[in-house]
Amino acid sequence: MSSDTDLHLIQSELCEGILTIRINRPEKKNALNLAMYRALSEGLRLAGDNDAVRVVVIAGTDGCFTSGNDLADFMAVPPTGGDSPVMTFLQAISTFRKPIVAAVTGSAVGVGVTMLLHCDLVYAVADAVFQLPFVNLGLCPEAGSTLLFPRLMGHQRAAELLLLGEPFSAEQACRVGLVNEVCPAGELVALVGRKALQLAARPAAAVRLTKELLKRDFAAELENTIAVEGEYFIARLESPEAAEALQAFMEKRKPDFNRFS
Ligand code: COA
Repeated sequence: MSSDTDLHLIQSELCEGILTIRINRPEKKNALNLAMYRALSEGLRLAGDNDAVRVVVIAGTDGCFTSGNDLADFMAVPPTGGDSPVMTFLQAISTFRKPIVAAVTGSAVGVGVTMLLHCDLVYAVADAVFQLPFVNLGLCPEAGSTLLFPRLMGHQRAAELLLLGEPFSAEQACRVGLVNEVCPAGELVALVGRKALQLAARPAAAVRLTKELLKRDFAAELENTIAVEGEYFIARLESPEAAEALQAFMEKRKPDFNRFS
């Protein structure tokens, strides 16, 4: 559950035209609660409006990018519609006009992976582990990922990641086109900093226009897919399978789906 004390869980720092937004809740593997989604959306809104911001970097903490949506929130305060904090964040990141660079450390799970589809450059440490466990949780994919994953890597590879929901390596993420480059853990900050500075030095209007053109042919379809997936996702959260999966996570046991047809 979110509270006012959650405000420090998203930290922002502007330096040389680069706004770094850091997800900072390591004790919960940077799981995103409602306040954090709101802070991320607000951070992007302010970054979009501020001419001093030329590039946004999204990062986690040492050993974790984000473990995705807070599963306790899914049980206590599930999203109910298009104006929920998670949907607002997805709208904000998927339509953000300036370049976004992601720095992936450690675990990237659920929306921690699907948000990468809306970043422009993605760098990961060699021991980062990615996972899309939506089906395992009785849910369905979100963030436009049922459109963007097959587009990026083809149906079979997307189906393998989304239907089996097994962890996959940074090297595999690079092979399927989700990640630009993999580096040793100690080199990520320098690599991301270098790329972000390069982007910040380019003519900003040309960068924005190129990003817009790169996404132009699927922008409307993406918006629609995010909305449709969101409706199914919200409905699935009320399913008995999801209830069992979430309860099992809380009780630190394996879920038992045998009684569901
Ligand atoms: N929501 C809420 N709490 C979470 C969380 C999440 N998404 N991910 C981790 N946590 C909590 C754990 O419950 C645990 O809390 P506790 O110390 O109070 O028991 C703490 O963070 C540490 O997690 P733990 O599972 O012990 O760390 P790990 O290093 O063994 O595993 C993950 C890390 C990310 C692989 C594992 O925590 C995980 O799979 N989390 C769930 C991811 C998920 O399903 N996300 C939703 C996708 S839609």
